Amino acid sequence: MTEYPADTYAPSAEMAAGAHADKAKYEEMYAASISDPEAFWGEHGKRLDWIKPYTKVKNTSFAPGNVDIRWYEDGTLNVSANCIDRHLATRGDQTAIIWEPDSPDDEAQHITYKMLHEKTSIMANTLKELGVSKGDRVVLYLPMIPEAAYAMLACARIGAIHSIVFAGFSSDALAARINGSQAKVVITADGAPRGGRVTNLKDSVDKALSAVEHDCKCLCVKRTGQDIGWTEGRDFWLDDLAAKVSADCPPEEMNAEDPLFILYTSGSTGQPKGVVHTTGGYLVYASMTQEYVFDYHDGDIFWCTADVGWVTGHSYIVYGPLANGATTLMFEGVPTYPDAGRFWATCEKHKVNQFYTAPTAIRALMGQGNGFVEKYDLSDLKVLGTVGEPINPEAWNWYNDVVGKGNCPIVDTWWQTETGGHLLTPLPGAVATKPGSATLPFFGVQPVILEPTSGEEIHETAAEGVLCIKDSWPSQMRTVWGDHERFEKTYFADYKNYYFTGDGCRRDADGYYWITGRVDDVINVSGHRMGTAEVESALVAHPKVAESAVVGYPHDIKGQGIYAYVTLMSGEEPSDELRKELETWVRSEIGPIAKPDLIQWAPGLPKTRSGKIMRRILRKIAEDDFGALGDTSTLADPSVVDELIENRMNRS
Ligand code: WT7
Repeated sequence: MTEYPADTYAPSAEMAAGAHADKAKYEEMYAASISDPEAFWGEHGKRLDWIKPYTKVKNTSFAPGNVDIRWYEDGTLNVSANCIDRHLATRGDQTAIIWEPDSPDDEAQHITYKMLHEKTSIMANTLKELGVSKGDRVVLYLPMIPEAAYAMLACARIGAIHSIVFAGFSSDALAARINGSQAKVVITADGAPRGGRVTNLKDSVDKALSAVEHDCKCLCVKRTGQDIGWTEGRDFWLDDLAAKVSADCPPEEMNAEDPLFILYTSGSTGQPKGVVHTTGGYLVYASMTQEYVFDYHDGDIFWCTADVGWVTGHSYIVYGPLANGATTLMFEGVPTYPDAGRFWATCEKHKVNQFYTAPTAIRALMGQGNGFVEKYDLSDLKVLGTVGEPINPEAWNWYNDVVGKGNCPIVDTWWQTETGGHLLTPLPGAVATKPGSATLPFFGVQPVILEPTSGEEIHETAAEGVLCIKDSWPSQMRTVWGDHERFEKTYFADYKNYYFTGDGCRRDADGYYWITGRVDDVINVSGHRMGTAEVESALVAHPKVAESAVVGYPHDIKGQGIYAYVTLMSGEEPSDELRKELETWVRSEIGPIAKPDLIQWAPGLPKTRSGKIMRRILRKIAEDDFGALGDTSTLADPSVVDELIENRMNRS
């Protein structure tokens, strides 16, 4: 009998027997991965097809001032060949991508590996036609349509580096990313239907390109057929160019450490940083986690509901599943259109076996009642996953009981844009789960809990502190695009010789990890990361705003909401109209996800005598927990605090 800790949901005997790993296998593989990472990853690197096999596996250093991460550094391969070409002989007619459009009345598409090969090759030759070659950057600003996958794989095929900008980001944010990477081409669509409404994507691209000085062309996919602006010589329809190019595009031979993509993510200071992932290690890890964590087996239908604009979409809609020859579902719409049963209707329709979504979606759907779930046949579901933020036990239990009918293990996967793939997660046949815990590390991952101020590693099993990782894993980010110093400063300066995650964490007596949330000035809104500094700098860019401080507060659906304290320029009067104006302003500076939920007018902010804003106090007030403000004696003017408490916003 396998022994599990008490108060857990152990895998069923049936699950354990059929899984890629049961408890004994997980423990054996984990131990091997830690005692000899070279041998372990040397062996598992073989899951990919290499053009020139590697002879070196791991060459990594977290040493202060000398952070350098390389995996499989002398091997060569092509990601698109691994995700497509190598499957053609055995599964050319198998569906690679099921595309479910925004409207359930429109027809779903089933794209086979053969079709994927043709579409990707044509897209790749189209990019070449526009002057893109190895090492160039291409920005993608696309709806969730198959062309998004073709474009990613086309870049990979010719060795171009893609940088996807979530289509919900504003034209300003898009311009900053096009400029940041000096992209040669931006790929977009005329419009994006979502939840029955259409976003004018091409419009945003036109605005963004007006703030771009270098030569950047626009490749446009026709999705809606709506009227759009057009600049001759700069803008090209994909269909027009695609009709002229060959469908034969040999994959470029890439070094394992050549960049595969850049993905911008928010940090605690300044502008978002361009996280760089490379070719070999990233794909080994994305594919291995997709297989083990979801216990994916040949013939299964896998659905990750994320957008390709986030890392989850990169690793678990496109790269991981396709490298494994899987069938991956791509959904254009939203969970509540045409009604709150859409996820479950889609699971039934396409016989989904593994379903992966975010706690915020689970909470929102839970609030709509069980009727929307019970209408559908969900008997094909085998494994359920969550990602993006801690899941509260109530939502976990609902997911388990109502969606999974108690038969589907829940994998709560903790990871980050920076980590490329899951670091803490149960394996469905191996690890007993506890609601709210991301449980145990994946192979090769060495989590440690440090005492926050001393930086000392806490060796007792039960511990609480900051979460760091002791050694590298293959899909670790390699650098910040164009700023290696910022990379070292952000992740390796606070705690020497460790990768610092930015998360707080508790380890219980069974060795299970429980993420307690960010310990820096990053907040998590509906599973999306937002730097409070970013929202603040958008607010102070408004001519009527003198100063602002932004913090998170608990929000029933979103996990955290955005609470903004705003000090107006002298002479400006607070009004509901101005509040609306500021909301619209932030939407257009960053995007709808950054819109403050609550704005409090603050005649003054609590500052130390040296002028530093005391965020701890602002956080407490926003959390409605001002009984425990702590020491306020170092404030330059303690009376500001009383004023702020008095006029705090109502959270409900
Ligand atoms: C931050 C990373 C990785 C894709 C989605 C978000 C939080 C992520 C969990 C989880 C608790 C989680 C952390 C992390 N987070 N997954 N299962 N349990 N917290 O990627 O935007 O890079 O954000 O999301 O705080 O640091 P991201």
